[in-house]
Amino acid sequence: MVGMGTYAIGNSTGEQRANEIKAIQRGIELGMRLIDTAEVYGHGRSETLVGEAIRDYREDVFLATKLSPEHFGYDDVIKSCEASIQRLGVKFVDLYQLHWPSERIPIQETMRAMEELVATGKTRYVGVSNFNVEQTMQAQESLPKSELVSNQVRYSITSRSIEAELLPFCGKEKIAVIAYSPLDTGNIPISRIPKEMLDKYGMTPAQLMLNWVTYPEPVVAIPKAGRVSHVEENAAAIDARISEADYRALSKRFEK
Ligand SMILES: NC(=O)c1ccc[n+]([C@@H]2O[C@H](COP(=O)([O-])OP(=O)(O)OC[C@H]3O[C@@H](n4cnc5c(N)ncnc54)[C@H](OP(=O)(O)O)[C@@H]3O)[C@@H](O)[C@H]2O)c1
Repeated sequence: MVGMGTYAIGNSTGEQRANEIKAIQRGIELGMRLIDTAEVYGHGRSETLVGEAIRDYREDVFLATKLSPEHFGYDDVIKSCEASIQRLGVKFVDLYQLHWPSERIPIQETMRAMEELVATGKTRYVGVSNFNVEQTMQAQESLPKSELVSNQVRYSITSRSIEAELLPFCGKEKIAVIAYSPLDTGNIPISRIPKEMLDKYGMTPAQLMLNWVTYPEPVVAIPKAGRVSHVEENAAAIDARISEADYRALSKRFEK
């Protein structure tokens, strides 16, 4: 339920690169199986680094990557997936996601290619990202042979717009919500989180944020952490669950 995002990872060399690899490997050892990357991150450098990090761990990992809208034409989808697979150094990915909706290419054409990738074993599952309810429904309808398993969207205690429509819709349709920027890109609202709640559960503010965001059933989170200490903290975020009353109190406190 708490995996790892990899935006802005893989752009450095030397010690920082080595640390990023170590952080991902530590996360896998601690059971953070879902790793999310994208062809656009660092023009493929994130995928290359993830590939290096998971080389000895492939079977422990649920590997997700994303395709950019400029590649949503049928042939480009197939080519992009093969290029991602090559950079990642794997035989297939577990989840292939459309990064953003496209206004240019009909979703039916893109999803026809996604179904081909499922049929040929290049991806196990198909997902989308940044799709609203209507776009998600169209994506589902354009996949006659496969299931749409996930929608990756921004969600955190300070970023709540999906609660009105998308979150209940995904819950009803059994589509996983993959919460990106679950730590609000590192802007952790420390002063607004009640200290007594942190003390009660022995959690850090980041852990409480991750605990909160994964409380509704369809939500899993992919915090990005380039440091081993952050990964260790995030991996322990849901060792215990906050109570429903505390979940509700926190939700209310951050409503505005
Ligand atoms: N689909 C999309 O359009 C989309 C858009 C944005 C992001 N994403 C995905 O979602 C992932 C996560 O989102 P994000 O990178 O935007 O933001 P995020 O995960 O909310 O925040 C990342 C920041 O939080 C810091 N951090 C991590 N763990 C921490 C901890 N325990 N305590 C304090 N700080 C901590 C990280 O620092 P260090 O790196 O120094 O550890 C980093 O600066 C991305 O990496 C990407 O895979 C997808």
